[in-house]
Amino acid sequence: MAEKIKLMFSEEEVDARIRELGEQISREYAGRQVHLICVLKGGSFFMCELAKRITVPVFLDFMSVSSYGSDTTSSGVVKIVKDLDEPLKGKDVIVVEDIVDTGRTLSYLLGMLQGREPASLRLCTLLDKPDRRVVDVNVDYTGFQIPDEFIVGYGLDYDQKYRNLPYIGMVEFE
Ligand code: IMP
Ligand code: MG
Repeated sequence: MAEKIKLMFSEEEVDARIRELGEQISREYAGRQVHLICVLKGGSFFMCELAKRITVPVFLDFMSVSSYGSDTTSSGVVKIVKDLDEPLKGKDVIVVEDIVDTGRTLSYLLGMLQGREPASLRLCTLLDKPDRRVVDVNVDYTGFQIPDEFIVGYGLDYDQKYRNLPYIGMVEFE
């Protein structure tokens, strides 16, 4: 099936929004250090840009999860493919995600990370599709709320394609 990508947020718009989020996080974490957890692969582009805009000390860690299900929806059964390198106990942690869709992945992940006893645990997502929510998830920082469309670019893929687009686009199937 051929697909077309339609622009949703330009590189400049995304950059400006990430700058604002970085400033907000820097203010709210003043005097502390923040541990960013990137959920691979989708969160990687966003986390790098966000980390550059945060002015308090930043530590980075990465995890990779796979959810069983079809390519475009998640089942909520999450398998940890790569775990974090560092313990979270006593740390101020922000999970950085590309998108919260049904909420199943994040709900599971946040529950699991909470069990590692961080001092605090927040969620920062580039995109939020609230209309699609099945499981309640508390999102602390949102780049953009978007309608129920399939999104690519800035780390998000369709069948592993388009992650490297410097803007956020929606897929139009023809
Ligand atoms: P959730 O568990 O349904 O919230 O799914 C979250 C994961 O599904 C995201 O981290 C993405 O990997 C994937 N996903 C959900 N919506 C989209 C989309 O519009 N484009 C690309 N990936 C998506
Ligand atoms: Mg993801």
